[in-house]
Amino acid sequence: MSDSFVWWKHGVIYQIYPRSFMDSSGDGIGDLQGVIDRLDYLEQLGIDAIWLSPIFPSPMADFGYDVSDYCDIHPLFGDLETFDRLLADAHARQIKIVLDYVPNHSSDQHPWFFESRASRDNPKADWYIWRDAKPDGGPPNNWLACFGGRAWEWDETRQQYYLHSFLKEQPDLNWQNPGVERAMLDVIRFWMDRGVDGLRMDVIFYIAKHPDLLDNPAKPSSLAGRAMGEYDTQEHIYDLNWPGVIQPLVSKIRRVLDQYEDRAAIGETYLMDPALLTPYYGEKLDGLHLPFNFTLLHQPWNAQAFRAAIQRYYDALPPGGWPTFVLGSHDEHRFATRYGPDNARAAIMLLLTLWGTPTLYYADELGMQDVPIPPGKEQDPHGLRVPGLGLGRDPERTPMQWDASPNAGFCPAGVEPWLPVSDDYQQVNVAAQAHDPTSTLNYTRALLRLRRDLPVLHGEGMFAFVDGLPGDVLAYTRARDGVRALVVLNYGAQDHTLDLSALGASAAVLINTTQDRAGSLDLAALSVRPHEGLLLRG
Ligand code: NOJ
Repeated sequence: MSDSFVWWKHGVIYQIYPRSFMDSSGDGIGDLQGVIDRLDYLEQLGIDAIWLSPIFPSPMADFGYDVSDYCDIHPLFGDLETFDRLLADAHARQIKIVLDYVPNHSSDQHPWFFESRASRDNPKADWYIWRDAKPDGGPPNNWLACFGGRAWEWDETRQQYYLHSFLKEQPDLNWQNPGVERAMLDVIRFWMDRGVDGLRMDVIFYIAKHPDLLDNPAKPSSLAGRAMGEYDTQEHIYDLNWPGVIQPLVSKIRRVLDQYEDRAAIGETYLMDPALLTPYYGEKLDGLHLPFNFTLLHQPWNAQAFRAAIQRYYDALPPGGWPTFVLGSHDEHRFATRYGPDNARAAIMLLLTLWGTPTLYYADELGMQDVPIPPGKEQDPHGLRVPGLGLGRDPERTPMQWDASPNAGFCPAGVEPWLPVSDDYQQVNVAAQAHDPTSTLNYTRALLRLRRDLPVLHGEGMFAFVDGLPGDVLAYTRARDGVRALVVLNYGAQDHTLDLSALGASAAVLINTTQDRAGSLDLAALSVRPHEGLLLRG
């Protein structure tokens, strides 16, 4: 396949949180057979790749992001044989499978960590980041853990501290140790040999720490305590994303993937300044194919804020670097809640028509909202260990709503799903929406079909904002091979009549958010309704 038509550039990635997608075994937790059972749904939806959040053996302190064996499947989800079937069945439908690779930390129950913590001189003593206490017995530096408290845990046996950037059950691996590097690259080979199409690399920017583990400076107090509590009281400059460290590591990972055909290197680069993403592409584009771009996530639903963020991102791309957009994930409140349900369809249109590879989070195609979690039912360690700040990620991880039967068809009646099903499941579910031509599901399917059919939407092509519009309207064109698409999004609650005659006399409706407009529209007096998105051709 030529480099100009690779799947990770042209396709749409669909993120599945496996615990929540489909439970085939009846234990209230989703599994791989459940995903296999729903491949028809995904094929009809029209996505190109599935990214599965971690499915590996894990004590589940962080629901799989604490891996105790990188080369097997957690029995909750199935086994390697089931995984191979999923891969084969997905491939038979031209759907790629991307796995979550968790390079920064393992579980504290990983055999590597047992060995490492046993003594100061065992062969894996240096596989994690161990340091002596300060003379006063305190931790080696001031680093904080993302999920609360300090990032160092005292170990009685070694009489030393170990570093954990997240939970204490997630000790950070020491990528400066050649044995760790070899072992973790072997993990990649293991999955690539099985036929996996790509990796989404969890917090890849955390593997690049300052070699001397210097103290982070305090953040100016005006910003302190803003979103993540104590963690936000520091500038995280030495504990992650240390320049010079990341590029060589990422290019080593990429070299392994390049030994296989058509594999994608995708990274979780949760860095809000787009200029910081450049090193992840690699100096000669020999790094990640897609360093995830989260810069739209924290924008208010405001046309000008989105325009500025999109422009800043495109401007910062290195030459040849391919863009990518994310509006939701298992770590973020659902966009139908963040932006308001009235704006969910416009958000989907934006995601699927910008220049770049989109990632769609499961159930966002239904317009699903966050689900309030009753006290006592919370599961997420972030919310539980840093309470009171609304940091819990359970609301966006609730079961997929398949139909109007008990438990929304996610698991059998009488079984308690691991997180509660939303109260609205009798209206908001796949079966109901599949039969309603005006549903968000059918709208998303139609958009995905258009995106696949029209190279101007999925390919390279020119991207340009339209200027001179009312403040709550965002419009852009994409052009390629003499075909032009025009996207007009009304972020506000007012009607507008726009004069877009500079773009031509008229344009044909490809789709609008309520799927009730057709034919040719006069560009000199283009009406756009509250919260409406229009995708036009011409
Ligand atoms: C980022 C993942 O997306 C998140 O869910 C996880 O808790 C942390 N990394 C730690 O692995």
